[in-house]
Amino acid sequence: MDMPDLNLDAVDFWEILYKNKPSGSNGRPSRVLERFLIDRTPGNALELGCAKGDDAVWLAKNGWQVTAVDISKTALSYAEANAQSQGLADRIDFQQHDLSVSFPDIRCDLVTAMFLQTPLDFPRTEVLKKAAQSLNSEGLLLIVAHGSRAPWSWAKADKTYFTARESLRELNLEADDWEEIHVGEEKRFARGPDNQKATVTDAIIFLRRM
Ligand SMILES: C[S@@+](CC[C@H](N)C(=O)[O-])C[C@H]1O[C@@H](n2cnc3c(N)ncnc32)[C@H](O)[C@@H]1O
Repeated sequence: MDMPDLNLDAVDFWEILYKNKPSGSNGRPSRVLERFLIDRTPGNALELGCAKGDDAVWLAKNGWQVTAVDISKTALSYAEANAQSQGLADRIDFQQHDLSVSFPDIRCDLVTAMFLQTPLDFPRTEVLKKAAQSLNSEGLLLIVAHGSRAPWSWAKADKTYFTARESLRELNLEADDWEEIHVGEEKRFARGPDNQKATVTDAIIFLRRM
């Protein structure tokens, strides 16, 4: 689909985007999420930018009590229906926030931010810093971002992509307070909205608060 008008405010931009998408999802969580979290002891999880809820559903299925946030009420309604269809609605609290304005008032054992990226102005680093501070001791922070431009991306051809290490530096976390479990780039085979195929790079940051 075409990108909604970039002059819209963030709420309207994402609403239009999701209203033009089918409500169903492919039911598959992010592979990085599965890979890094499958063996972890569940607790309270916060997911930032949950879209249609496949990651939140996977977390809930694996024992986590999840707070799942998105700016789009329509995305949240799709995500809630997704959770309900799997009998997991009571394990996920869906909350609407524009994260540049408000942030859930919770402490948690895991924060995930998978491709929390937008073509609009967005204080992503500040939001991720808040996310890091919302973690309990021993809590896990999993951030995955696009590290390359997919051929079908809306991003400008000359957009700069940061490495995981560069993004981690931006977060300015106190090194002694965090264990680096994984910080780096990985390539992945991906399909675009019209079934285009490409190899893309993900920049992955996975930390544990000490
Ligand atoms: C690129 S999508 C990624 C969705 C999903 N996490 C994934 O891995 O496919 C970004 C998501 O962040 C949400 N989002 C964008 N700006 C936001 C904001 N200011 N506050 C909260 N959520 C936002 C969008 O609605 C969208 O669902």
